Amino acid sequence: MTEFSPKNILVTGGCGFIGSNFVHYVVNTHPDVHITVLDALTYAGNIENIKGLPEDRVTFMHGNICDADLLDRLVPGHDAIVHYAAESHNDNSIANPAPFLETNVDGTFKLLQAARKYDVRYHHISTDEVYGDLALDDPHRFTEETPYNPSSPYSSTKASSDLLVRAWHRTFGVKATISNCSNNYGPYQHVEKFIPRQITNILEGQRPKLYGDGLNVRDWIHTDDHSSAVWTILTKGVIGETYLIGADGERNNITVLKSILRAMGQPEDAFELVKDRPGHDRRYAIDSTKLRTQLGWHPQHTDFAEGLEQTINWYTDNRQWWEAAKAKTEKRYQGQGQ
Ligand code: NAD
Ligand code: DAU
Repeated sequence: MTEFSPKNILVTGGCGFIGSNFVHYVVNTHPDVHITVLDALTYAGNIENIKGLPEDRVTFMHGNICDADLLDRLVPGHDAIVHYAAESHNDNSIANPAPFLETNVDGTFKLLQAARKYDVRYHHISTDEVYGDLALDDPHRFTEETPYNPSSPYSSTKASSDLLVRAWHRTFGVKATISNCSNNYGPYQHVEKFIPRQITNILEGQRPKLYGDGLNVRDWIHTDDHSSAVWTILTKGVIGETYLIGADGERNNITVLKSILRAMGQPEDAFELVKDRPGHDRRYAIDSTKLRTQLGWHPQHTDFAEGLEQTINWYTDNRQWWEAAKAKTEKRYQGQGQ
């Protein structure tokens, strides 16, 4: 198998949680690679996330992936696009779906057109949520063959974007790969998401908030493992193929919350049950056999208790990174009764 060795990568959404982790990963592990970060710096993007990286290795471009003229100026000269930029939060997509259609569907369309026009390799970052959900007692997990069945405005726009990638590969020959990953956790995650919301609630003296009965299951993976998997797929993956990324990390929300409470010295019952998310997916579970057996990838950060402790310590030590966003986020949740 000949490996692809990109030297000049355009990373969209590189100031978000997972995109910035990938930028750090590549800078730390591949000294011969230059990265251009294209990011609109929405409420979820933070330039601090890529601060301090060497200027000769990382160039920042403030802009929108829906801007085709900007892409015409930016894409030529790059040998790969790794597309992370998205509206990423389910609750926001229920409150206001429009930006999800724009960024996730139209933005992906614009990037695919640019990849086609300038013949640039394209890797598409997607989610396990495109497959819908599983019953708690279902013995199966998602595989690359599971039919698409998204539930929320967010996941339906991600599913749409995946289908665009498949069509642009088949019809126009765009050299594309797709990955669908499970729930990420780790430092730099926006405080609207489950784990950082609960950690920062406790740090602010507020009680954590659990949706519904708390029995929904997510399949947790440390974001460092997501980055190494994406690099593996970009360099060793077969064009036109989809790879599922997961680290066998299934846990229900109440178990995760109790682990956070224990690790932060709180009683295990010091939380509130709040209104459930409409259409709330019950369970996600990834079978990542294809990625492991065909490309030789394995997760390194599988000790969840250790990863959680590292994440709690990071939020404890970096209040200035999240305090302003926290106030705005909680105001939004209050308006939704959550
Ligand atoms: P995030 O919300 O933390 O970051 C999104 C980034 O994209 C931000 O920096 C934002 O400024 C930027 N962005 C948004 N709209 C843009 C636009 N129109 N033009 C340019 N930049 C724009 O998201 P995340 O959690 O880091 O997720 C990144 C990707 O990974 C998404 O595609 C998401 O669907 C996917 N994903 C996330 C998870 C997870 O657990 N968070 C799991 C699987 C897949
Ligand atoms: O599965 C991958 C997906 O994981 C990604 O595609 C999404 O971008 C990412 O946001 C994440 O989606 P979820 O909806 O699973 O993540 P979230 O952190 O919003 O919620 C995780 C679980 O916790 C879910 O069952 C809802 C619940 N929850 C969430 C919040 C914010 C609570 O119980 N209380 C909360 O306050």
